[in-house]
Amino acid sequence: MTTWSLRTAVPVVATTIFFFLSTMAIPAATAIVEHTFVVSQMNMMHLCKETLVTVVNGQLPGPTIEVTEGDSVAIHVVNKSPYNISIHWHGVKQRLNCWADGVPLVTQCPILPKQNFTYRFNVVGQEGTLWWHAHVPCLRATLHGAIVIRPRLGASSYPFPKPDSEVPVIIGDWWEMDLEEVDRKMKDNFFDYFPSASTINGKLGDLFNCSGVAEEGYVLDVEPGKTYLLRIINAALFSEYFLKIAGHRFTVVASDANYVSPYTTDIIVIAPGETVDALVVADAPPGKYYMVALPNQAPLPDTQTPEPATRGMVQYNNNNNRGAGNGATALRSRNHIEGGGGGDPSPTGDVPVAPVMPDQHDVVLSFYFHSNLTSLRHPRHPTPPVPIRVDEHLFITLGLGSVCRRGQYCNRTKENEAVLVATMNNVSFQLPTTPLLESHYYHIGVQDALLELPGKPPRAFDFTDQSLIPIGTKEKLLEPTSRATMVRWFRYGSVVEMVFQGTAILQGDSNPMHLHGHDMFVLAQGLGNFNAAKDMSRYNLVNPPLKNTVVVPNLGWVAIRFVANNPGVWFMHCHYEFHLSMGMAAVFVVEDGPTMETSLPPPPLDFPSCSHDNNLAPDEFYLQTPEIKVSRIDGV
Ligand code: C2O
Repeated sequence: MTTWSLRTAVPVVATTIFFFLSTMAIPAATAIVEHTFVVSQMNMMHLCKETLVTVVNGQLPGPTIEVTEGDSVAIHVVNKSPYNISIHWHGVKQRLNCWADGVPLVTQCPILPKQNFTYRFNVVGQEGTLWWHAHVPCLRATLHGAIVIRPRLGASSYPFPKPDSEVPVIIGDWWEMDLEEVDRKMKDNFFDYFPSASTINGKLGDLFNCSGVAEEGYVLDVEPGKTYLLRIINAALFSEYFLKIAGHRFTVVASDANYVSPYTTDIIVIAPGETVDALVVADAPPGKYYMVALPNQAPLPDTQTPEPATRGMVQYNNNNNRGAGNGATALRSRNHIEGGGGGDPSPTGDVPVAPVMPDQHDVVLSFYFHSNLTSLRHPRHPTPPVPIRVDEHLFITLGLGSVCRRGQYCNRTKENEAVLVATMNNVSFQLPTTPLLESHYYHIGVQDALLELPGKPPRAFDFTDQSLIPIGTKEKLLEPTSRATMVRWFRYGSVVEMVFQGTAILQGDSNPMHLHGHDMFVLAQGLGNFNAAKDMSRYNLVNPPLKNTVVVPNLGWVAIRFVANNPGVWFMHCHYEFHLSMGMAAVFVVEDGPTMETSLPPPPLDFPSCSHDNNLAPDEFYLQTPEIKVSRIDGV
């Protein structure tokens, strides 16, 4: 429920009035958007099975936070769940407000069961769609929701035709397993845990059933001729998705709350962590059209995993003068164009038309989709210029590796001697015991061993050599790695260029890399190995898209640049949950600048403290790990 706090809004309104006078613009006054998020557990019935899930306010997806750019947000989190919780506002830049970023042991101690905490932040200089999610391993599968940021000057100031309606489309996955256990097992060599279904706005859809009764699906009711702005979010833990609507095209207008040059496509490809805003015009003959979300996966020789598709529907409201008969005729021809797949539409247009989906392994579609994004150049929506001088160059390989459970030497193939981990430059991230932000801010030093994230991998090899994917002699040489709390420090204002290079060690997955607190200019991407001599000349320094999550293509690379101008301690990680749980992460520390306006202020007074549980090891903040018997070790 949204409430408006007048008391707290007063000073903000006063500032806004001053702003009016000085700019003569007439924006709506800034407001405080306030929500209470009660985190608790409830049973949900799907696929003939009651499953206990952890949700916010009894909803899945959780509540949408709707703000106008410039608003302040206050979210009172009441933790009635048995887990330690923190909520991350994914993509919100949190300028000078790292304390509210919501990453356990990076920016804060988690909110313990029976405790509360209020997150306060401003949404400034961003418009579009972002989202929020628990930053607790795997629990984000059911603890997430949309953040919708509308322009201060109203919908008529969108840099695209004003839509008649706006709808969040959240792609997720449905797990029948205990998510806490999934996380624990993924950290311990068990990889045979998969979601039972995919979802659109929490609904499984009619590809799934319970004893022959179809699961309810998401339905978007449309009126002919009207335009819909879909705010698409991938909140799933495991997969990048292909999204199509039979008979319709999308015009992509924004991604990660940054406008892009309008780009028309019949397929959206969206990785976990990304958002895509796309216009859809209801210009097809009235009828029913399936909206299908299909997870993609790396082709062989990668290990194949069960990846279920889901579907909802776009349904034309028939209370209009366009007759069903006409619709049905046109529908047939549309179905023909689409190549069928959904069966013949009936003369009454009652049988929905299905889109033709690409092959699940056609991962190059993701590369094309993402390569087609450029930032919008628009007088009312200026994008910052790409910084030309670069202060730091990092080359970061992403991959898998293994660590001995005990000591330095072990037999990788012998059960229980080694653990499979995910790495950046061959080091796997380990959480510290004290939140890094606290240690950094109070200069109390860190009790944990910190390692500086290396600027390049320890050795060069043919990173994308596919023969490294199946376990083997060549691969084994590259596999040994280590664990550490990896941190990299940046001077305030430094321009950082990073090339993320995917590797083929044991898998050839893509990697949606997410940076907290900053947007990144995506300069270029490519398949295969990055070649500086050739590829740097291809950098787009004119209108690269700005993203908080960049997709490193399967067996490929991405080059980005960002300005480290937000003092604090920022997590940077792969948004595939299994990669994150396994350690594909690092922390970027941005130092204070020389002035108050460039320095991180002190923490809020009610900031959660770890003192109740000071003796717990890091992982115990999430879970009490029982003794686990490892039965399998090579199942990547
Ligand atoms: Cu959306 Cu660190 O995450």
